[in-house]
Amino acid sequence: MKVIKTISAMQKYSTHCRKISRSIGFVPTMGALHDGHRALIKADRHTNRIVVVSLFVNPLQFGPREDFQQYPRTLTQDRLFCEKAGADILFVPNGHAMYPDGFQTTVLVGKVTQGYEGQSRPAHFDGVTTVVTKLCHIVAPDRVYFGQKDYQQAIAVKQMLLDLNMPIKMVMRPTVRESDGLAMSSRNTHLKPNERGAATVIYHALKEGGRQIRLGERSGARIRGAIERVLNTEAVVNVDYVGIMHPDTLEEMKKLTGRVVLAIAVYIGKTRLIDNVIVRVPTL
Ligand code: PAJ
Repeated sequence: MKVIKTISAMQKYSTHCRKISRSIGFVPTMGALHDGHRALIKADRHTNRIVVVSLFVNPLQFGPREDFQQYPRTLTQDRLFCEKAGADILFVPNGHAMYPDGFQTTVLVGKVTQGYEGQSRPAHFDGVTTVVTKLCHIVAPDRVYFGQKDYQQAIAVKQMLLDLNMPIKMVMRPTVRESDGLAMSSRNTHLKPNERGAATVIYHALKEGGRQIRLGERSGARIRGAIERVLNTEAVVNVDYVGIMHPDTLEEMKKLTGRVVLAIAVYIGKTRLIDNVIVRVPTL
């Protein structure tokens, strides 16, 4: 595995790959890598000739009171991790090269970014879509890999690739979980032991939502109520939102048919965690 630190070296490498018709698969990350990232790298390895992973903690997508400074930075481990997972290139650009003085362009996706995470974290998705556009221009992949864990992010990127005619396929892979169901996240390391215990309620609540749908409940409001009731059994959990959304448009679903995404954001102490499941609604 090769580590590339400059934008120009990365561009040179991808231009060369394209010239000799080698497909490139790309996994953008912010590091502190875990099995969720590993699953994306493996999926990429399975399909593409060249596997590129980027590691960049993107300041643009953190709000002024969010955890940019505290975000875990573990480059030495991440490098070994990527090598073992089968990456060919680890691209680690520096902040000043990505956003030099005078930088003034933002990529802003509309409707699908406005609710849920977009409402709770203003400007977050503008930061994500701006950095993903830049990284995709630099790496020039055929496919880019995203986790279902950040469902709204994956849909925003898909919409952006479509709208901006970027010839890149977005591949979404399932959420990887700990054995007790908690979705893997770099932020789980911030949880105190009692908070970590309580965090399992997130997945239980999502499962309960799915169970109610399978039992015949079709009201979005009542599914939300059922999910909130489970979350509220843990005193340290503060609900930010429970979303009952259409999988493509992310619009709120009042009456459930087809497929539905049940999404949760909570605060546990100071840590904000998100998770979701996609449920196929049985025809009654
Ligand atoms: P990061 O949080 O490092 O996540 C990188 C990718 O890993 C994202 O596509 C995310 O959805 C996926 N991922 C995280 N946890 C996962 C899990 N438990 N199972 C499956 N996939 C998981 O998301 C970002 O970074 C940034 O916003 C980024 C896209 C890199 C732009 O800065």
